[in-house]
Formats: sequence, structure tokens, C-alpha cells
Amino acid sequence: MNALAEAFEKLPGIGKGVYAPADFEAVRKIVHQTAGIVLVPGKAMLVYSRLAPLVRNTGCGTFAAYVKRIEADDSERRRAICALTTNHTFFFREDHHFDHLGTEVRPGLLKRASAGEQVRIWSAGCSSGEETWSIIMTMLGSDRAAAARLGGLDFLLLATDIADHALETAEAARYRVDSLNAVPSELRRAWMRERDGHATIADEARALVRFKSLNLLGDWPMARPFDVIFCRNVMIYFDQPTKDRLVHRFAQQLAPGGHLYIGHSERVTGPAAQMLTAVGPTIYRKVAA
Ligand SMILES: C[S@@+](CC[C@H](N)C(=O)[O-])C[C@H]1O[C@@H](n2cnc3c(N)ncnc32)[C@H](O)[C@@H]1O
Repeated sequence: MNALAEAFEKLPGIGKGVYAPADFEAVRKIVHQTAGIVLVPGKAMLVYSRLAPLVRNTGCGTFAAYVKRIEADDSERRRAICALTTNHTFFFREDHHFDHLGTEVRPGLLKRASAGEQVRIWSAGCSSGEETWSIIMTMLGSDRAAAARLGGLDFLLLATDIADHALETAEAARYRVDSLNAVPSELRRAWMRERDGHATIADEARALVRFKSLNLLGDWPMARPFDVIFCRNVMIYFDQPTKDRLVHRFAQQLAPGGHLYIGHSERVTGPAAQMLTAVGPTIYRKVAA
């Protein structure tokens, strides 16, 4: 018995007429081709539980009918892919990245912005925004007057994700206070307004961020290079050729001397390895052209 048949044997009480191995295979292929995400046979139950509400809501009745629907209907395919993303994230995740950004990168970027130069940061695969706001708070520091200064300069953070529901949360910038334990207290005081068990990011910080829906496998409309790119815990869902291509595109999109931060279990491999030097654990600097 192959791994997929075995995974289906373990699915509790789901009729093959409703959800069969061929349906999983079809979803797996669509998600891989569209978003790069690899679904192994062990994810058969996850695919069922995430897509079953969509199968019901569309009136499709069976996964086979739903597969036909997403093959033909772009917006339903998009909904299905969003439902299959993993959006787990938290504030100041892998905090050594923020220590490095704050001490090694921030001073130079603020100096350049103050001199009238453009400074751009990209949080790629930002999920519900905890990473984005951790970057912004790190860049602002705890001095509230700094935000006013930065707001008047050519400084912007672009935050993108493929999952619209995650982007909505990111843009709303409102989080439960029990998710804020890792936020340094001086940054929390400076940039978060707390009320009724929730904290909202201050408007001055929000003004520095643009959120956009973007599939990393598709075209990137950004013409200008970035000084800093965070793409963490996104490539873990991709296969090796996709990771190599993506990290190469990031390297091309970085300004000379710019920094790339990736997740703790991710590596720079393929052609990008010639363009990036490791300057810390999962922190890379683009070599000058
Ligand atoms: C586990 S979260 C990581 C969030 C954050 N970067 C962190 O490290 O905490 C992975 C995010 O990658 C996004 N993602 C997956 N495939 C994507 C793709 N092809 N294009 C853009 N975003 C994608 C998912 O929607 C999800 O929000």
C-alpha cells in the first residue's frame, strides 16, 4: 500500500465518495503549481478539514466536484489556497534577527534615510503581521519623536502574503495582549495602545507600512531594490528547486549591502549562494556588485 492509500485508511469516517485519494492528488498538484506549497500524503486529513467548509459552502457536495470548481474558477482556487496556508507566527520570533537589525543595520538605514535616500524593507510572507510590526518597532526604537522624523522621510515597509485573511489581521494591527510577551517593554509602551485585553499598533507606526497580496511564485511588481528582506518560515513549505529560485530572486531584489533574514531551518542554496555572505545565523548580506 502506498503512503497516500495508507493515509486515507486512517481517515475517520469519511466516505471515499466524498473525498478520495485522487481528490487529494488533484488538490496537491494545484497548490504546488500555484503557490509552491508541497502537501505530503500525511496532510490528507488537513486538506479535508480545511477544504470541507468550502466544499459545503459552494454546494459542491464532493471533493471531486470541488476540484473541478477550483480548476475552472480563479477566485475559488485562491480561496482554497488561502485555506491551505499555515499562518503560525508570533511577535519577535527568532529574536536574534531583531537584535541584528536593531544594532547592525538600523543605524546605517536611518542615516541614509535622514540624508534623503530611499529606504525599503520587505516582510515577505508576513502572515498576520506580528513579524511586520516587530520589524517596524525595531526600526523606530522607543523614541516616539523618531516616528515623526521617519514619517517625513522616504522610508517604507512592504508587507506581503498570499493569504488574504492573514493580511486583514495584519492591517487591522490589533492583537490580544497575551500574545505580546516577547515584545520588549519599552517598545510595547511606545507603539502599542492597550485596551480591553487587546493592543493596537500606533498610527505613526502604521503609516510606515503598506500591505499587499502577493504570491511569491508570481511576478513581483516592485521595481526598486530593498535594503532588507525578511522571508522567514515560508520556504519550509516549498521544494528545493522552488527554494533555490526564490532565494535567488530575493538576492537579485536586494540592494548591494542589503540584508536577507530567513527562518531558522532554512538555508541559502543554489545560485544565490554566490551573491550572499552569511553574517550571522540565517542572516545574509548581499555582496557589493
Ligand atoms: C508560517 S507563516 C510565517 C510568518 C512569518 N514570516 C514568521 O516567520 O513568523 C508562512 C506564511 O507564508 C505564506 N505563504 C505561503 N506560500 C506563499 C506564497 N507562495 N506566496 C506568498 N506567501 C506565501 C502563508 O500564507 C503564511 O502566512
